[in-house]
Amino acid sequence: MGYTDVYANWKADPNGFWMQAAEAIDWNEKPSKALFDDNAPLYEWFSDGMVNTCWNAVDRHVLAGRGDQIAIMHESPITHSTKGITYKELQQRVASLAGALRMRGVEKGDRVIIYMPMIPEALEAMLACARLGAIHSVVFGGFAAHELAVRIDDCQPKAIIAASCGLEPNRVVHYKPLLDAAIDQAEHKPEFCVIFQREQEVAKLVEGRDFSWHGFQYGVKPADCVPVEGNHPAYILYTSGTTGQPKGVVRHTGGHLVALSWTMKAIYNIEAGDRFWAASDVGWVVGHSYICYGPLIAGATTVVFEGKPVGTPHPGVFWRVIQNNRIKSFFTAPTALRAIKREDPTGEWIKRYKLHDLQALFLAGERADPDTVKWAQEHLGVPVVDHWWQTETGWAIAANPIGIEELPTKIGSPSVAMPGYDVQVLDEGGHPLKPGELGAIAIKLPLPPGTLPTLWNAEARYKKSYLEHFPGYYETGDAGYMDEDGYLYIMARTDDVINVAGHRLSTGAMEEVLASHPDVAECAVIGISDDLKGQQPLGFLCLNKGCERDHKTIVKECVGLVRDQIGPVAAFKLATVVDRLPKTRSGKILRGTMVKIADGEAYKMPATIDDPAILDEITEALKAMGFPAAK
Ligand code: COA
Ligand code: AMP
Repeated sequence: MGYTDVYANWKADPNGFWMQAAEAIDWNEKPSKALFDDNAPLYEWFSDGMVNTCWNAVDRHVLAGRGDQIAIMHESPITHSTKGITYKELQQRVASLAGALRMRGVEKGDRVIIYMPMIPEALEAMLACARLGAIHSVVFGGFAAHELAVRIDDCQPKAIIAASCGLEPNRVVHYKPLLDAAIDQAEHKPEFCVIFQREQEVAKLVEGRDFSWHGFQYGVKPADCVPVEGNHPAYILYTSGTTGQPKGVVRHTGGHLVALSWTMKAIYNIEAGDRFWAASDVGWVVGHSYICYGPLIAGATTVVFEGKPVGTPHPGVFWRVIQNNRIKSFFTAPTALRAIKREDPTGEWIKRYKLHDLQALFLAGERADPDTVKWAQEHLGVPVVDHWWQTETGWAIAANPIGIEELPTKIGSPSVAMPGYDVQVLDEGGHPLKPGELGAIAIKLPLPPGTLPTLWNAEARYKKSYLEHFPGYYETGDAGYMDEDGYLYIMARTDDVINVAGHRLSTGAMEEVLASHPDVAECAVIGISDDLKGQQPLGFLCLNKGCERDHKTIVKECVGLVRDQIGPVAAFKLATVVDRLPKTRSGKILRGTMVKIADGEAYKMPATIDDPAILDEITEALKAMGFPAAK
């Protein structure tokens, strides 16, 4: 059956389609139906089934005779080490950690924050929570203590599992002082912390609160899998919204299992025994779905990569890992390929490795620019699949499902809607637009299994952020168009979210930090185009009347403040002082116009602008910083 028939089958009978997909999962009690819509517009999937994620990702594969197969391969070009963990070992390690957590009182429904770098123990911590029905929330290592504190207060964890340190190519990231500072800042205090001490740094433990990963597990009884309801939250993953308060995306257990299992074959063409690698981080949704859960649910081997596409030690490291692990499907962000392409434009490093097991390259996290796609197609000689999704959806909204049928690629498009998603392009009034017309991209409700049912402790915010603008639809926050063949083109965000090196960031959150500087009266942050990272943030600062301090010093302090409060991942390095910000007569800052000026694009003078002369001042300020950059 080809894609068109599969999509039509889903449309004709969504319940039947997803019940059939649910057959791939081991249920303790089978669900009576797929969709639970009694609380519309809030929907749930497989709510009355009983199931355990860890069982499906680990134990059942041991039972099926895959115990000696490598489940997790750790590749760390930073520490020069390679280590494999079999499914049998993974089962023992996870059951032991879960047993220790349970002995300290962690039970079904308790929250556990995980703050760890790219080491197998991060996945083990996630799986140990899943084993007990505890709800994990992984926090990306590039975030600062304040961001961690915000998440501690929002999800109120009983425990935090962290590593002593992370390793960036140029420095050791001292996790433990960040963790201690976050706990100090947060109002909620976890009952205990578990610290995985890495060789590179042994952290000082707080007596009575902190336990070491190994000592903590000594002599405990391993825990069995605890079956949970299909609508029990598997995890909370925070993502950037318009304000400084991140959104806690909730993932329900049953739908998560069914959807990921379906995607592994249909989209990535991966089955039990295959080898899959997603070069992302466990702190992002790609890491949740396709470093940890997806490949393990499928019974495949997954790679945990601690390194960068370039500089650790060279731009051939991705191809070396693909060769050595005989990777069949590989997933990365376009920005990573741009970094490689910049250092290896003619693909010399690619030629040094044998990549004959590689069948496809998948790209997501930001728009895949045509130059990068063409470069990868030419030098790798495999299908390059751009696919579009979000933290909220947990899996691809649009893709080229090569496990079902390889559709023709249209460069610049992530291809077509996946079953479960009825994607529409709408005008401001919510009316469907014609092919080729640019509008807001929305998805007709209900969203499929595996997508967010709500935000953690914030149902009203969920409805306001996603469901109210276009009643009956989920608003994606992306704008674009669809062509006559149903191929989607994702062009821009409709909100204040920017995408820096595949990392989703909120300009609103950065503005909140800048506004806290004692000399800043008003500010605006925009995302300007960047050849490597896609976008980079740039701040405009208006100072308090009478402030006579040196502008360079204030800019430096502001850059430091964002790094301290949000973290290095914000990559906030550019700011300038201006007298005034351009606004509409109603006071709305004209960020879009400033982006166009910085990028050297033509813009129309907004009809509602309060004082057009301010745009000249902004143009001058940007010119002084070297923008628009020479092409
Ligand atoms: N822990 C601590 N710090 C981190 C971090 C982590 N896990 N990840 C990134 N950082 C830091 C970096 O060290 C850097 O710090 P610096 O300002 O001191 O140099 C800063 O955050 C910005 O990082 P980044 O934007 O990643 O830039 P980079 O110059 O280090 O690397 C790329 C550029 C393109 C090589 C890199 O961004 C990359 O590989 N991107 C792919 C992203 C990805 O996979 N996204 C997931 C979506 S699928
Ligand atoms: P995140 O939630 O971090 O996965 O970021 C989701 C956002 O990244 C989307 O809403 C898009 O704006 C952007 N994005 C992700 N994948 C793609 C893609 N393939 N093409 C264009 N934009 C993408």
